[in-house]
Amino acid sequence: MKQKELDILFDSLTDREKLAEMTQLISSLLTGREDKVTTGGSLEGSLSRADLDSAGTTLNCLGAAEVRRVQEEHLAANPHKIPLLFMADVIHGYRTIFPIPLAMGCSFDCEAARESAEIAARECSASGVQLTFSPMADLVRDPRWGRVMESTGEDPFLNGKMAAAMVRGYQGEEYEKTGVIEPGHVAACIKHFAAYGASEAGRDYNTVDLSEGVLREYYLPAYQAAIRAGVCMAMTSFNTVDRVPATVNRPLLRGILREENGFDGVVITDYSALYETIAHGVCADKREAAKRALEAGVDIEMMSTCILEHGEELMRENPELRKAVDESVRRILALKNALGLFENPYRDADEAREKELHLCTEHRAAARRIAGESIVLLKNEGNVLPLRPGKKIGVAGPFANSHAVLGSWACTGDGGVSLVEGLRERYPEAEIRTAMEEELGSLFDGVTDVADQIEEACERLADCDVILAAVGENQNDTGECSSKTDLRLTRNQRRMVDRLCGLGKPVVLIVFSGRPLEIRDQAEQCQAVVQAWFLGTESGTALADVLTGEVNPSGRLSMSFPQTVGQIPVYYNHANTGRPRQTNRQEERFITRFVDCPNEPLYPFGYGLSYTQVSYHDLRVECEKDGWRVRVRVRSDSGPACVETVQLYVRDCAASCVRPVQELRGFCRVKLEPGEEREVSFAMTKEDLAFWNGSAFTAEPGDFLVMAGGSSDRVLTASLTLS
Ligand code: BGC
Repeated sequence: MKQKELDILFDSLTDREKLAEMTQLISSLLTGREDKVTTGGSLEGSLSRADLDSAGTTLNCLGAAEVRRVQEEHLAANPHKIPLLFMADVIHGYRTIFPIPLAMGCSFDCEAARESAEIAARECSASGVQLTFSPMADLVRDPRWGRVMESTGEDPFLNGKMAAAMVRGYQGEEYEKTGVIEPGHVAACIKHFAAYGASEAGRDYNTVDLSEGVLREYYLPAYQAAIRAGVCMAMTSFNTVDRVPATVNRPLLRGILREENGFDGVVITDYSALYETIAHGVCADKREAAKRALEAGVDIEMMSTCILEHGEELMRENPELRKAVDESVRRILALKNALGLFENPYRDADEAREKELHLCTEHRAAARRIAGESIVLLKNEGNVLPLRPGKKIGVAGPFANSHAVLGSWACTGDGGVSLVEGLRERYPEAEIRTAMEEELGSLFDGVTDVADQIEEACERLADCDVILAAVGENQNDTGECSSKTDLRLTRNQRRMVDRLCGLGKPVVLIVFSGRPLEIRDQAEQCQAVVQAWFLGTESGTALADVLTGEVNPSGRLSMSFPQTVGQIPVYYNHANTGRPRQTNRQEERFITRFVDCPNEPLYPFGYGLSYTQVSYHDLRVECEKDGWRVRVRVRSDSGPACVETVQLYVRDCAASCVRPVQELRGFCRVKLEPGEEREVSFAMTKEDLAFWNGSAFTAEPGDFLVMAGGSSDRVLTASLTLS
């Protein structure tokens, strides 16, 4: 629609219709067809039929037929024939499910992230979805928080690259040039603005309290990268930022998001987050909530109706708020226009396309490849892995044959290939014996006595050449509102691993989880450890590829694994103290340390093994016109062809405020043939050395360390001076 026509349409709207355009409800509330399932908010009886018919957007209406039906009814009833915009949480795939984002982060493969988002967009757009509430760019440091699975991890640089890649995958590369979201693509929404990942103690929705420097250097960059990639929407977070809930936080939304970062897209609240500002204790009632949201620059209120109920009165009283409403409605209409909804309100919703695309061979092949890249090999003593053909393989534990391996937020996915199914596909001839393969439940809790079952399992697997212990946490114990205080495997899983290890056979621990679990004891007992996360539809096949050596593992941790829950938060890019632990002063008492545990994580950010020995040589920093070129040589010393993830870190040795001991500033995946040596180089500029000095990002003159290696804790070091 031409701008002129949009203006005419806008001018024809009444105040009430504008406010309804700013209201988002689940479609069952609009159609009145299903039960009113809501998880919060203030929907008690204040919605007239006219309001419902004027609503601008809806969420979680899935399926081509249903979307077409709802849209058709809406267009028939809406006085201005303004189409509804259909939004949903398509987080890591729609029907073909990809690894959870935390695992995707471990691939360090932005092209894979882009591709998976593009496939998700293709599938969900066929089912009528027009905008996805993804990517989540919240930086995470606390594995007690269930939503770490939705993030790509603890590093702002990696998160930014991943978020931007996903935005481009969803919205299509053309969008940045043309402003049009092409067919087969969907609009994206960056969330949760801001700093939702810093909830205290990892308890969901809890208080966030950060210094401005930490907010700006760690938490904001990934959202900013998504904004630079042209993301269409931003969702507010449930938490406070500087003691004010994000949803009514004017300095955050109008200031940082819009003015500083130039975001001109649509701001949506999280689910009933505006109404919840009353419980938070910053708004006395819905009227005040509406006022503060309009002042802060909220455009769409999801699943509560403060703005709809009180907006007219506020607009009458205050011209500023009228202006705010008008701006919001114009932004929403502009988004609908970018999606071409006025010409084609159904976009790609098409039952034939759903059949053709959902779980098609091409999508499944991509899911398998990307899942393979997301697996992280954490230990491989005596080269137990890869498995050798012709061996007798025992598989025990709740994830041996489980299809519940998609992870939380798996949209319309309905189960993935199990580990045993994957192994049988790769090794049709092999003897694969299973034991104790009941899903997580009473058998694996800490109460039921399973001594007999464990003994039986041991007898059954005693003559196997190798045993795979497939353990982990329930996929439903990850994601939203799934915070935990105990990150250990359940007691009976621990017992099972313990006894299997006593058989004297090599045991490979395979961990299915949505967060770093506390696996220190089991990692010590077992010869090999594979972090399987929740890998999606092709979980078992991808795992079998890696376990059998068809695919050489290349994943690197996107989040540190704690030794114990008491160490949390433990992350690689921490600041130093004035009393750091030094290797030559282990005995000293008054240094920063725990008396019962090392400071270091069990496995740090960037860590991961492959079946190849790779070494690093000859790190050099050369001056260039606008900065530096960092070069390092990487060599495959023994083993098969591999993909090595080369990581570049910097450290500012002395600055006006304390700097992190390491900060990721570059990474790349390099293919190495057996025996091959390659030079990898990174361009660095002054911006890579900058930090928030209280009023701006600045690089201060002085000495820096430049580090390159295959893990944050295994690096070569060189120096660089900024004059
Ligand atoms: C979550 C969001 C999600 C929204 C809509 C909320 O509870 O925090 O991430 O997009 O629901 O489903």
